[in-house]
Amino acid sequence: MKIFIDSADIAEIREAAEMGVIDGVTTNPSLVAKTGRSLDAVIAEICEVVDGPISAEVLATDTEGILREGRKLAAMHENIVVKVPLIADGIKAVKVFAGEGIKTNVTLCFSAPQGLLAAKAGATYISPFLGRMDDVGSEGLDLIGQLVNIYGNYAFETEVLAASIRHPMHLVHCAEMGADVATIPHKVILQLLKHPLTDIGLARFLEDAKKIPE
Ligand code: E4P
Repeated sequence: MKIFIDSADIAEIREAAEMGVIDGVTTNPSLVAKTGRSLDAVIAEICEVVDGPISAEVLATDTEGILREGRKLAAMHENIVVKVPLIADGIKAVKVFAGEGIKTNVTLCFSAPQGLLAAKAGATYISPFLGRMDDVGSEGLDLIGQLVNIYGNYAFETEVLAASIRHPMHLVHCAEMGADVATIPHKVILQLLKHPLTDIGLARFLEDAKKIPE
């Protein structure tokens, strides 16, 4: 399973990358806005830190605009994946991008039929938003299972990129279901490592080690 960090904060990305467990990065306009910097500056810096797929989102919502912005982003670096909203104009653009060899991450997926159409258009990744579904009383994990199943039935190459992950068990369930990728906020990456028994056990070992004769 591939793990991406869901962040535009270069310090967070750098720290996670140093752990050696990060395969790629996803950003979105809200995350980039928090940095107070331009999209180009943020994406260029991320490309220097992580050698893997880096999703950068278009802001246009019409096919021509999405194509124009996406081509510009893709030209910035070979690792750029153009993030496209799951709307009709976006799906049309994904088809064109696929023909041009530009990788896409179709974002804001909340249903299996949406995911099926994204795969038909040739999306590289589909991003179902788990946490946001849970927030409105749906079961986000059910959608992960459906997409893994549907894509497997027809050998679609589109990878299921579980997004909007809020806690460690989201990741565990996604891994059990066979999601190809999970994109995880920095805070949750740190939570993945934490276990009180590890801390207690380590403190005890270090204390006992003081009694070992030289
Ligand atoms: C995915 O690519 C999105 O950037 C992200 O996972 C959304 O997560 P949120 O619902 O926590 O904002």
